[in-house]
Amino acid sequence: MTDASEHAFSTEVQEADAPGALGQAAELLAQGQLVALPTETVYGLAADARSPKAVARIFEAKGRPAGNPLIVHIDSVEIAEGCVAAWPRAAAQLAGAFWPGPLSLVLPKADSIPDIVTAGGKTVAVRCPAHPVFTAVLAKCGFPLAAPSANRSNRVSPTRAEHVVDQLGGLIPLVLNGGACDLGIESTVLDLTGDTPTLLRPGMISLGQLQAVLGPVATAKHPAAAEPLKSPGQLQRHYSPRAKLIIVEGDMAAALVQADETTHVIARTAEPAAWPSERWHELPAVVSDFARELYSTLHRCDQLDAETILVQSLPSGDEWAALRDRLNRAAGA
Ligand code: TXA
Ligand code: MG
Repeated sequence: MTDASEHAFSTEVQEADAPGALGQAAELLAQGQLVALPTETVYGLAADARSPKAVARIFEAKGRPAGNPLIVHIDSVEIAEGCVAAWPRAAAQLAGAFWPGPLSLVLPKADSIPDIVTAGGKTVAVRCPAHPVFTAVLAKCGFPLAAPSANRSNRVSPTRAEHVVDQLGGLIPLVLNGGACDLGIESTVLDLTGDTPTLLRPGMISLGQLQAVLGPVATAKHPAAAEPLKSPGQLQRHYSPRAKLIIVEGDMAAALVQADETTHVIARTAEPAAWPSERWHELPAVVSDFARELYSTLHRCDQLDAETILVQSLPSGDEWAALRDRLNRAAGA
């Protein structure tokens, strides 16, 4: 057991473009400490991927179950190849098409990656992020960084530095503030260790885009298969706000009959005349803009003490698949 007081920090938030900020981040990481910093998808909580002790701090700060493996972030194919035991043609093709970018590839792990990173498994997820702050820190470090989303386990991923401070304030020494994340939801996770590439977690790189490069791609039966941890309670709800989230198919007006002053709505249309605008969150109908704003809206509902969030169901179609997946998980559906 570890003494909790060992991990009491006064969390510093540094503007990523402040003089010395990137160097300070790299120095902490080299010392085995944690730093939260932006990627193009969501904020990550980084640690030296080569150090079991540093990586253990990630699991502690997040309250993450030990059975859930981490993504290793790298800034070149050469470093990725050092993290894996095989670099198949499919990986080279995908890296060529989508890196740097929101795609994590699951491959056989190299011995250099400690077991704690992969939750004891023989595979490792690698990703080359596209955010200039993350890339600059990777370049200064010169070693790969294990980084899950910088939220407490099972909660909504942070897309702004404030969201990180809300959840991990006092638990980590430094947050680099690089503003709001461009994409807003976590990377696509693709397993390349089987006979057919298998989509474990949909993301903004869609199934169609992967198929255009690879040919056939299978989808994991349950999106939750991206979580090797098979404990049902852990899997049903994920990426959840504190409020109960309900997906409303069809007419929102009918659902509003049951609503009270703790009910918030997320929709792609403006509020009806009688509904208070502070409890109606209109998101853009364009998929990339919707994705960019969804998590901040969920965080905002938490801040406003929402007890129920009614979310208008999303359109069908491949481009909305990742967002449908996240809403379904947030709803525990
Ligand atoms: O966009 C992202 O991927 C963000 C940013 C920070 O890069 N990271 C992120 O990490 O979302 P995390 O830990 O919150 O989610 C990683 C997902 C989990 O569902 C995990 O189970 C899965 O990837 N994963 C990681 N390694 C895996 C492996 N070896 N096999 C199967 N799934 C894996
Ligand atoms: Mg996460």
